[in-house]
Amino acid sequence: MPGEILYQTGFGNEFATEAVPGALPVGQNAPQKHPLGLYTEQFSGTAFTTPRALNRRTWTYRIRPSVTHRPYEEISAGMMRSGPFTEMPTTPNQLRWDPLPVPEEEADFVRGIVTYGGNGDPAMQIGVAIHLYAANTSMQDHFFANADGEMLIVPQMGALRLATELGVLEVAPGEICVIPRGIKFRVELPDGKARGYICENYGQTFRLPELGPIGANGLANSCDFKTPVAGYEDRDGEFFLISKFLGRLWRAAIDHSPLDVVGWHGNYAPYKYDLALFNCINTVSFDHPDPSIYTVLSSPSLIPGTANCDFAVFPPRWQVAEHTFRPPWFHRNVMNEFMGLVFGAYDAKAEGFLPGGASLHNCMAGHGPDAETFERASEAELKPQYLGNTLAFMFETQLAVRPIEFAMQTRILQHEYYECWQGLKKRYTADPAAKA
Ligand SMILES: [Fe+2]
Repeated sequence: MPGEILYQTGFGNEFATEAVPGALPVGQNAPQKHPLGLYTEQFSGTAFTTPRALNRRTWTYRIRPSVTHRPYEEISAGMMRSGPFTEMPTTPNQLRWDPLPVPEEEADFVRGIVTYGGNGDPAMQIGVAIHLYAANTSMQDHFFANADGEMLIVPQMGALRLATELGVLEVAPGEICVIPRGIKFRVELPDGKARGYICENYGQTFRLPELGPIGANGLANSCDFKTPVAGYEDRDGEFFLISKFLGRLWRAAIDHSPLDVVGWHGNYAPYKYDLALFNCINTVSFDHPDPSIYTVLSSPSLIPGTANCDFAVFPPRWQVAEHTFRPPWFHRNVMNEFMGLVFGAYDAKAEGFLPGGASLHNCMAGHGPDAETFERASEAELKPQYLGNTLAFMFETQLAVRPIEFAMQTRILQHEYYECWQGLKKRYTADPAAKA
């Protein structure tokens, strides 16, 4: 599928796209006989009876139906793990990791996935798994599909070209994409190497957050989401499907490319979003709104206002708050915060939090600016300041993120992380006048 990649715009719209005229039936979903000899297959991402506003399904018209493959057999999951995350006790300590190295041995996108932790259970369709990926090889004969959850991918280094059943997406650092549960895809690496983060969402599909008093516009606008147009492969050969199902990887032989959807219509489809288009809302007077103002996408739990997972981004932005300590304040939170950095520096930390690295502050773990940042920000002259070189993000989840054994034993875990706060000295005095 060479050439310019075309997209359709809007979040969760009812799209209709055909790579060949006549692939989409007119006036009905399932004609008795398709004029081009295509098979009709419905692809449902929500239960049939999900309320209309949340219902997600797509009708595909394909060269062969998805059922045409050999039986699956289990293969090694490599460094990928899945809920329930019970490998080891979960520490209440604040955790931080150096950047994940790109492996020297051959690793494609799937083999390059390294799980750090997660919560919930794909069997219960609750929770998330948090992975990084570091890859150096394009997938060629293998195709991947994840029955356990949708995958929110945050590239940090190197672009990804994702050839999916429903079309091709190109995603570069600074952009994100979401591959829905069950979509088959192959990942090519135009830059040779790639690294990034993945939130595998076992729960309800990501959606745009409500805007409340913000009004009809702001944060991530629907018109800035892009979904691919139909594009297909008509290739016979020896290929493999890899399926992630209930936490394990399974492989099946298939004698043709499964990316053979010639036309489709519906609202269950992959999409991408350029984080530079995020319309950042913040104070123009004083203090800090809660970081929920940075929410790009949200997967709700069953508790109103409590996310299974929020994806929040801290993009380039102006800081103008008067008589205010401007970096994020010290806080403790019932929610659980896994952070990553795409580029630049994060304003709460002087050092140690690097692009490709990560941090985890779980339920009620105190955290905030390190001692150096506290000193500097307490004395800074409060003129309008542009934070230009920064793109951090957070996967914020309802349930504690439980690191797996790798994450706790790897040499990229920063055992000295706690030291960044030890220089916060006692500054209290009951009588400021006497001190002066
Ligand atoms: Fe936090």
